[in-house]
Amino acid sequence: MPRTLAALPPEQGVRLITLQRPEALNALNTELLGELAAELDLAEQDADTRAVVITGSRKAFAAGADIREMAERDLVGILNDPRLAHWQRIARFGKPLIAAVNGFCLGGGCELAMHADILIAGEDARFGQPEINLGIMPGAGGTQRLLRAVGKSLAMQMVLTGEAIDARHALRAGLVSEVTQPELTVERAIAIARLIAQKAPLAVRLAKEALLKAEDTDLASGLRFERHAFTLLAGTRDRDEGIRAFQEKRRPDFTGQ
Ligand code: HXC
Repeated sequence: MPRTLAALPPEQGVRLITLQRPEALNALNTELLGELAAELDLAEQDADTRAVVITGSRKAFAAGADIREMAERDLVGILNDPRLAHWQRIARFGKPLIAAVNGFCLGGGCELAMHADILIAGEDARFGQPEINLGIMPGAGGTQRLLRAVGKSLAMQMVLTGEAIDARHALRAGLVSEVTQPELTVERAIAIARLIAQKAPLAVRLAKEALLKAEDTDLASGLRFERHAFTLLAGTRDRDEGIRAFQEKRRPDFTGQ
C-alpha cells in the first residue's frame, strides 16, 4: 500500500496519481520516488491504463528533492543513491504522462514535472530550479530538459539565479502547454488524458517515442525513426479500423492490436 501517494484505478483509460507528503510539500524522498516508479510500472503493464495524470496538492506539486534526506548523504551515498534507479524507471514510462501542476514546482519537483509529456499549470504554479541556493545544481535532468523546453537564456537564468517563474511565464516559454484556474488543473489534465486514451494505443506509444527522439537526436536520424514507426503502424489492426471508421463515418473502436 503506497504511503506517499494515492493512485486511483483507471477511469476511462486514465489513472490519476496524487503525491501526498503534505508535511514536506511533497518533497521527493526515496520512498515517494520508489512508490511512484512502482505505480508507473503497474500502469505500464495494465492494458486498461492508456494515460496517466500525476499531480500534487494545491500548495505544491513538489518542492524538490527531500533536503533532509539529501543532507544525510555524502559523496559515496550519492554515488550509490537508490533514487537514480527510480528516476530512470520514471523516465522510461512509455504511455502518455500528464502533469497537473499547482503551487510550488521546484528543484526535483520541476524535474519530475518535466518527465511528463504534457504539463498543465494552475495560475498559481511556480516553476524553479533553486538548487544553486543550496550550493548544488539540478541532478535529475533539470539542466538538460529545462534547456530543451525553454531555451538557453531562460534556462541559464533559472538555474544560475535559482529564481522561479510563474505559470504565465512558463506558458510563454513553452514549459507548459496550458494555464488554468488552479481548481481546474487536474480536471483539465484528465480531460486531455481521456482524449488521448481514446486513440490507438500503439500509435500513441510510437508517436510519443518519436517526439522524444527529437530531443536527443539529429534531424536525419529522427526522420528515419519516424518513418520506421509510421511504417510499423501499417501492420496494426487499429490502423485498418481507424481508416475504415473514417470511410464509414463512424467513431473508431481501437483495441490496441
Ligand atoms: C524537505 C521540505 C522541502 C524539501 C519544504 N519542506 N521543501 N522538506 N525537502 N525540498 C518542508 C519544510 O521544511 C517545512 O517543514 C514544510 O515542508 C513546509 O515548508 P515551509 O518552508 O514552511 O513552507 P513555505 O514557507 O510556504 O515555503 C515554501 C517553499 C520552501 C518556498 C517551497 O519550503 C522552500 O524553499 N523549500 C525548498 C525548495 C528547494 O530548495 N528545493 C530544491 C531542493 S534540492 P517543517 O517541518 O519545517 O514544517 C533538489 C535537488 C534535486 O531538488 C536533485 C535530484 C537528483
